[in-house]
Amino acid sequence: MPSLPLIARRTPSALEQLDALSNEMNIAFFSCVADLVTRGRLGLEAQAKQHGSTTVLLHSLAVAYYAESMARTLGAVGPLPELRRGALLHDYFLYDWHDAHDPRNRHHALLHPRYACDNACEDFPDLTELEREIILRHMFPLTLVPPRHAEAWIVTTVDKWCASYETAKRKTDAYPHLRALIGTYLPELVF
Ligand SMILES: [Fe+2]
Ligand SMILES: [Fe+2]
Repeated sequence: MPSLPLIARRTPSALEQLDALSNEMNIAFFSCVADLVTRGRLGLEAQAKQHGSTTVLLHSLAVAYYAESMARTLGAVGPLPELRRGALLHDYFLYDWHDAHDPRNRHHALLHPRYACDNACEDFPDLTELEREIILRHMFPLTLVPPRHAEAWIVTTVDKWCASYETAKRKTDAYPHLRALIGTYLPELVF
């Protein structure tokens, strides 16, 4: 009886599995960014600086991207689409907080989560309670009420890391890796 040909069943390496996950995550992430730009005013965030040479838009993308990566690593959080959208909109205040003539700049640090949440609710009426919490609580402990859910804790933590990092980088590019990803997945985005 002829022997059956030996077929080596190749299982994907850990690195290949990680790459597949990254690709899947990147597609979902940048689809969400495109949706918020198309249906809302996220693109306006490219017109104002946040920290150092980083615009509010690039800062928001960085916070959302690294918050989602952290959540996936921890594996102990709930819905990633809500974490992603809440994080992308966490600084959706839509004015230049460096402009001394803009009256909204008074108490910016304390009040911008409320402005951001109001704008987000106006543009995206389907915003969930968790997404609103992520936006409203991201400045804790400066704003006194703490987040309740793990997703909101992750975003407020990553936001502080990104803000410190961007400030330290001053005029140099804080996120070359993220810029490269934007070039690949959403090249039409101006950030
Ligand atoms: Fe903020
Ligand atoms: Fe922020």
